[in-house]
Amino acid sequence: MASYQFISKQPEETKDFAKRLAGLLQAGDVIALEGDLGAGKTTFTKGLAEGLGITRNVNSPTFTIIKEYQGRLPLYHMDVYRVEDAFEDLGFEEYFEGNGVTVVEWAHLIEAQLPEELLLLQLYLDENGARRIVAEPKGNRYEELCKEIF
Ligand SMILES: Nc1ncnc2c1ncn2[C@@H]1O[C@H](COP(=O)(O)OP(=O)(O)OP(=O)(O)O)[C@@H](O)[C@H]1O
Ligand SMILES: [Mg+2]
Repeated sequence: MASYQFISKQPEETKDFAKRLAGLLQAGDVIALEGDLGAGKTTFTKGLAEGLGITRNVNSPTFTIIKEYQGRLPLYHMDVYRVEDAFEDLGFEEYFEGNGVTVVEWAHLIEAQLPEELLLLQLYLDENGARRIVAEPKGNRYEELCKEIF
């Protein structure tokens, strides 16, 4: 399957990318984010939230795994870094199949619970401080999305 990528030289570029994507999202879309600490997963999510018309500040709460925000579509922001049991059922499925858009930071930690079709975004820290964002669409819907935004 094709993969798509771009280099983001600053936080605003990551946010702008997310904002463009946000404009194309629909209910039930799922975005899985991978990347080391500080790679820009939450920065991306902030941009996505802005693009969905959400005015509340999005952050990565230390002990809250799922946060919900209201915009053009609801945004379900999950950070599963602290999920210790990959199979623990915290009701993820209801969000994936819900009326909003779900973003999951550290998605591989709940891999078995993820939907088959999603947009996987890998964020890499380059040596010069830039971020490389690599998209791997799983399923036609996400393939089409990638063709539009890259
Ligand atoms: N091109 C860039 N894209 C995104 N963030 C960048 C970029 N350049 C620098 N940064 C900075 O890197 C940091 C990214 O932090 P962020 O919280 O988004 O990462 P994260 O992947 O969510 O980390 P964590 O794993 O701790 O949740 C921010 O301080 C941001 O300003
Ligand atoms: Mg984060």
